[in-house]
Amino acid sequence: MTDEIRIEPIREDHVEGFREALDIVARERKYLIFLEAPPIEASLAYVRDNIAGGHPHMVAVADGRVVAWCDIRRAARDAQAHCGTLGMGIIPGYRDRGLGRRLIAAVLDASRAAGLRRIELNAHADNLRAIALYEKVGFEHEGIARHAVKIDGHYIDSVKMALLFD
Ligand SMILES: CC(C)(COP(=O)(O)OP(=O)(O)OC[C@H]1O[C@@H](n2cnc3c(N)ncnc32)[C@H](O)[C@@H]1OP(=O)(O)O)[C@@H](O)C(=O)NCCC(=O)NCCS
Repeated sequence: MTDEIRIEPIREDHVEGFREALDIVARERKYLIFLEAPPIEASLAYVRDNIAGGHPHMVAVADGRVVAWCDIRRAARDAQAHCGTLGMGIIPGYRDRGLGRRLIAAVLDASRAAGLRRIELNAHADNLRAIALYEKVGFEHEGIARHAVKIDGHYIDSVKMALLFD
């Protein structure tokens, strides 16, 4: 199945599909700090900035539809320019088949090639599948931000993880 799913660096013609995938995952209210996608203009500006700035951002495309994304934003400040923050998501129906592993591996390779040396991320503490994936590709736990997220009245701790390239 995943053989039919192509992983591609994001292009402007992916923006609508990227936003749609983000919106679907955000509206599940379980995994992201977005609860809906930003407006299309903001999504387009974000993608254009990633492309222009060389921030690694890839999408997975199945039958012409964007079904997943992964991006790593390089930090803006000079002394943190070796650091990037990772975000990703896969829409329901395409999870638990190894796509997450393929996608994150591709984006991590691109970030290393772009000169990044530290990749960091936050995951909701109850998102065991995501945490397992990040551990498998080499991320280590760096701490817990207690009650950092609140969704539908419930506080969730945020797990802070990072990967250092040699
Ligand atoms: C989290 C997510 C990216 C993982 O991608 P995926 O394609 O579903 O996961 P994979 O099939 O690549 O599995 C990753 C690994 O974790 C393992 N795993 C999955 N769930 C697990 C669990 N609950 N406990 C332990 N290991 C688990 C898998 O067995 C697999 O290991 P393997 O490669 O050795 O077989 C995807 O499920 C997703 O987008 N979920 C919703 C949005 C989300 O959580 N985004 C991340 C926010 S931080």
